[in-house]
Amino acid sequence: MARILITSAIPYINGIKHLGNLVGSQLPADLYARYCRARGHEVMFLCATDEHGTPAELAAAKAGKPVADYCAEMHEVQAELARGFRLSFDHFGRSSSPQNHRLTQYFAGRLAENGLIEEVSERQVYSNADGRFLPDRYIEGTCPNCGYEKARGDQCENCTKQLDPTDLIDPRSAISGSTDLEVRETKHLYLKQRSLRGDLEAWIDSKTDWPVLTTSIAKKWLNDGDGLQDRGITRDLSWGIPVKKGEADWPGMEGKVFYVWFDAPIEYIAASAEWAEKNGRPEADWRRWWRLDEGAEDVRYVQFMGKDNVPFHTLSFPATIMGSRDPWKLVDYIKSFNYLNYDGGQFSTSQGRGVFMDQALSILPADYWRWWLLSHAPESSDSEFTWENFQASVNKDLADVLGNFVSRVTKFCRSKFGEVVPEGGAYGDREQELNDDLYIRIRAYDAHMEAMEIRKAAAELRAIWVAGNEYLQSAAPWTVYKEDPDQAAAIIRFSLNLIRLYAVLSAPFIPDAAKAMMDAMGCEDDTWPAQMTHAMERLAPGQAFTTPEMPFRKISDEEREEWQARFAGQRG
Ligand code: MF3
Ligand code: ZN
Repeated sequence: MARILITSAIPYINGIKHLGNLVGSQLPADLYARYCRARGHEVMFLCATDEHGTPAELAAAKAGKPVADYCAEMHEVQAELARGFRLSFDHFGRSSSPQNHRLTQYFAGRLAENGLIEEVSERQVYSNADGRFLPDRYIEGTCPNCGYEKARGDQCENCTKQLDPTDLIDPRSAISGSTDLEVRETKHLYLKQRSLRGDLEAWIDSKTDWPVLTTSIAKKWLNDGDGLQDRGITRDLSWGIPVKKGEADWPGMEGKVFYVWFDAPIEYIAASAEWAEKNGRPEADWRRWWRLDEGAEDVRYVQFMGKDNVPFHTLSFPATIMGSRDPWKLVDYIKSFNYLNYDGGQFSTSQGRGVFMDQALSILPADYWRWWLLSHAPESSDSEFTWENFQASVNKDLADVLGNFVSRVTKFCRSKFGEVVPEGGAYGDREQELNDDLYIRIRAYDAHMEAMEIRKAAAELRAIWVAGNEYLQSAAPWTVYKEDPDQAAAIIRFSLNLIRLYAVLSAPFIPDAAKAMMDAMGCEDDTWPAQMTHAMERLAPGQAFTTPEMPFRKISDEEREEWQARFAGQRG
């Protein structure tokens, strides 16, 4: 039994996320959290909404609402969708929480005490047409690194390089398109990341077990020196965390707030403080997850995120933690993802192209999406959602393989023996063989889950379901019954036990169906099969079950075509 701290990159507040966002952080984090809990580990699984920055301000203005109200409402919307997808957060926080205000100001104060903050008189882009300073991401232009023409002032989406707006070639306002930009003087704080380069490098080099995607992005920015430019951590906005040095005012920084990317990762810590407050727990209960001097020595901390987030989690946030010179816990393992594309192009929030979380749940239950998304997670390369592939996976894996197994076994049993686990007969070679096969497969499944190799884990789980189907097909209880009802009873008893086993093993992927299967078997024993010895005897002869309504139905060609047309773009 270990203690595992799990965080998912925290989604921006401004709008409902699409399935590409979901599979890039929150969903795989949930899979892992559920698996770790099932294995008996103590888990703290945290996520939150990322509420500061210009996008939040502009979205609120567009909705005609005060930004605080807008964020409160959108937080609830996102929290509800997270529940809909069965994301099992211990807490879903808000980066605008009082806890995050305090911690962010605290970290800034520590960094200043340690000489890692520089006050810089800066020349900042001011847009005459828009009558305001333009935050980085509202300046667009050509990326100096890769030539992409729609790079933003904070980062190039195309090559993931972190940018400063003044790096852009041919800059223009993303609000008005105006090129009537001028540069004005204003004072800002910079985090001197460059002086932490040695520490960061030694730390990243020590992480020999990280996925290639994570390490390659981290090293790229570290070795280019580019990821380690000293970073501006303040902005001229009214919505955000006021710049303070701990609890003290910061002379000259009146009216400024911290940059959203400075406070957002600190929310990982703050979310656990919010969790403690909400549950009436003392501070020590959250600090034992985060402070090496207060019990976090034995915590393993795993983060999940899309690849565009990797530089912030391998360089910027660790620089904040290290620079504090306090014993805060650093991440142990970063699982990062490539992008999920949509039907021959990209998901697009602005064009409403692709399926968004609310729409997905309005057409099919969460398990369908969870299964497809996780079994096609963009791990080693970008992957693509197509309706044909989605239909094929659902119809085959969920309906034909798993669903069909459950309903054939339970319906046959009900008609011949009634809704109780039948007695009589004995397990023979065929059962022993499947048992041995499953033993090996479950070990492989465990290994993939522990390694967070999600596609491989899904493939192994599918193979485990298929093995049961093949067993049933070849054992053919419906034929055996005519000659030897006792033997048919043994086959069915074994198969009912398989349903229970499948419920346990499948729960991290498809929690609702797994629960329906468990409930139907009238069994509360959801222990993970550490060895197979008794796994097939958990349901005793005579025990009652109910024939479950399997939640998996097939997707018809008409539905597929209708959805394909509906989600092609221009979300209404
Ligand atoms: N909101 C960011 C995104 O969606 C992720 C922030 S992750 C954190 O890309 F580290 F800042 F928390
Ligand atoms: Zn670029």
